[in-house]
Amino acid sequence: MATGTEQVRLLGRSIGAEVVGVDLAELDENDFVLVHRALLDYGVIAVRDQTNLTPEAQIAFSRRLGDLEIHVAAHFLLPGHPEILQISNKKSADGAAVGFEEAGRYWHSDISYVERPAMCSLLYALEIPPSDGDTMFADMYAAYDGLDGATQKRIADLTAVHSYAASFAGETAAGANRATLTDDQKAMLPEVVHPVVRSHPETGRKALFVNPGFTTRIVGLSDDDSRSLLGALFKASVHSQNIYTHKWRRHDLVIWDNRCLMHHATPYDSSYIRHMHRTTVIGDRPV
Ligand code: OGA
Ligand code: MN
Repeated sequence: MATGTEQVRLLGRSIGAEVVGVDLAELDENDFVLVHRALLDYGVIAVRDQTNLTPEAQIAFSRRLGDLEIHVAAHFLLPGHPEILQISNKKSADGAAVGFEEAGRYWHSDISYVERPAMCSLLYALEIPPSDGDTMFADMYAAYDGLDGATQKRIADLTAVHSYAASFAGETAAGANRATLTDDQKAMLPEVVHPVVRSHPETGRKALFVNPGFTTRIVGLSDDDSRSLLGALFKASVHSQNIYTHKWRRHDLVIWDNRCLMHHATPYDSSYIRHMHRTTVIGDRPV
């Protein structure tokens, strides 16, 4: 229902906003347009106080943005609702992890290693620790805009390989969540190639589309040249002025646009529970 109390407020410098006064479980068309607009304008938005967001309601709202991805990590999907991936350090009665405990503790863009990567991801905080466990977001429009003209020209027509199985950054090799896929699951994920610079299909703006998590090399360059160019692009992407750090509140539904942002989870004291439900909307093939 449109209540007239809807508000959008920028929290970061260029990206990151909060939306208050909307109920995603009962969202009319006007408020849907407001939320969608805020997502395009700010890249990542926290819709506050979603106390009634059942799995069914989260899935129904997410579907209004597009088709949903069923994540390859089948063992971490919410039973009965495979559209929901659990990001959690909870254990089931038999002691097994119910979800990815250390999901994404490196810079990445969700599932950039498939042909049609995620347009956006929606993460709903059911339980959060009293502090830490923030999520950082990097503005990849700003990363592109901040490159010097010669570099922009050099990368204009380059493409890069993205792969789940292999990873470029040493940091990611240590990521505990990597080991949770079976060989069969990994075999379902061949390498893909995407442009290094993509045009956002809705805003028309150019964004850098390489990430330390999944981008392994630039096509057509020597290993050394590829490594040094990727290193320079990664470095340019995470200037502090391009970053918004989200401090979670319980019942935030945070939506981020993977086409123009990277994100990075941060640690927390694992004696507290951090339990979240993620839905993922499939996007276009990057161009
Ligand atoms: C994700 C992810 C970050 C976090 O769910 O895709 O990267 O802070 N999560 O849990
Ligand atoms: Mn992620």
